[in-house]
Amino acid sequence: SDLFQPGRMNSQGWDLKIERIQAKFDESRTAFKETKFTATPLLCSDFIGEKPLDVISPYDANDIVGSVIPASLKDVETALDGAIPWSEASAEERAKILIHAADLYEKNHGLFFAVLTREAGKTALDAVGEVREAVDFLRYYANQIQHLQNKEARGIYVCVSPWNFPLAIFTGQVCAALAAGNGVIAKPAEQTPLLAFLAVQLLHEAGVPRSVLQFVPGEGATVGSALVSAPNINGVCFTGSTQTAMSINRSLAKYANPSANLIAETGGINAMIVDSTALPEQAIRDIVNASFQSAGQRCSALRLLYLQEDIAENFIKMLFGAMDELEIGDPWSVETDIGPVITNKAKIDIQCHIDLAKKDGRLLKQLKTPSQGHFVSPSVIKVNGIRDLQVEIFGPVLHIATFKASQIDQIVDDVNASGYGLTFGLHTRINDRVKQISNKIEVGNFYVNRNQIGAAVGSQPFGGEKLSGTGPKAGGPQYVPRLTVDHADKQAA
Ligand code: SER
Repeated sequence: SDLFQPGRMNSQGWDLKIERIQAKFDESRTAFKETKFTATPLLCSDFIGEKPLDVISPYDANDIVGSVIPASLKDVETALDGAIPWSEASAEERAKILIHAADLYEKNHGLFFAVLTREAGKTALDAVGEVREAVDFLRYYANQIQHLQNKEARGIYVCVSPWNFPLAIFTGQVCAALAAGNGVIAKPAEQTPLLAFLAVQLLHEAGVPRSVLQFVPGEGATVGSALVSAPNINGVCFTGSTQTAMSINRSLAKYANPSANLIAETGGINAMIVDSTALPEQAIRDIVNASFQSAGQRCSALRLLYLQEDIAENFIKMLFGAMDELEIGDPWSVETDIGPVITNKAKIDIQCHIDLAKKDGRLLKQLKTPSQGHFVSPSVIKVNGIRDLQVEIFGPVLHIATFKASQIDQIVDDVNASGYGLTFGLHTRINDRVKQISNKIEVGNFYVNRNQIGAAVGSQPFGGEKLSGTGPKAGGPQYVPRLTVDHADKQAA
């Protein structure tokens, strides 16, 4: 089938600017506006479970999206004891099943759009992007595995996924490990178990056996920790904080066999340089998107803008003008640009950072915040440079520093010295400057004259270096191979 050809296009998505498509989108997601969902462990045999917990929308405390029965530690044992690699299916059979799953995801778009809106507070644009990325991961990895020679599964992978891409990153990790022929035990983020549960149900429906893909919702400190300290696992795919990645690494080193590996995608303090030759309208559009879309809850998001001194005054005026146009609020409205942050705790932590800047006279702008839901409104804070930012602020907060042309090398050194290395942006019309910075900057994804979020599967492999991740990049050609061993090597040994 043409689905198996390399170079297949990414999924088409939904162009919400077209009225007819927007109406279809709204209709499909409204159908699940009131539905109550229940997520349970999905194991190779029956589960015991813990006390059910309500899953409440970050946008509306009255919207109980459903409930989750977390896995008990006994369930984790059951999953680990019963886990098997997907060895009875050939690469082609696995690929067919994963491509079938991609079709089922697309068919169930309304369900996903609604739960993305309700459980994760995603705007319409983000919900569309997320389903699309999940489908792309399924097709891309399925397609890829059929073209890899001499590859064998490593065994059992634990996949630990984040709440900020509860469907796309969850699916990406799981389907890459499955495509490679591994067995998977998936632990979703505590905040977003329902989307992950719905995804696993569709993967099972598509034909992934239950012992090959098991699902264990629960807390990182209990369920997650028990999984990553199991001696019989062969690796972990993790997306989340640098600190947790380091703790998983220690756990693997202590308990697992020496060949077990960790693939981690973690945080960053992502910067962008805009010099005085940049096209202001284009740069401002990209800065607004990269800083505030998804309420800044992307690991790729722009946190620190370096703006050339000569253009700063006018540029900042234009930027604030563009920010004034942003719609913040109800994620059920397709007009909304910025939805809520994920929890009340996230809101308090981010707002604390903003309040501190306000106290110091460094808060340049904050838009008005809606009264209901966990909202933090887009804010801009003045800083001197990346040294003023100790930690990643995971919300809609942009920091701005100004610079003179002679300081560009120093800026790149400072960004590199932060230890993080995820995304970096540059707006310029000077070609030599692009070369100069790209030769020196230590990041996984370097973007020129565009925004730095929304890497497309297959064409923009995504992932960081140093404190930002281990590689290989998600949605790139090295990801699935890292989840395998080379059969030829094995025979030679
Ligand atoms: N892949 C996402 C992006 O590029 C971040 O996780 O924005």
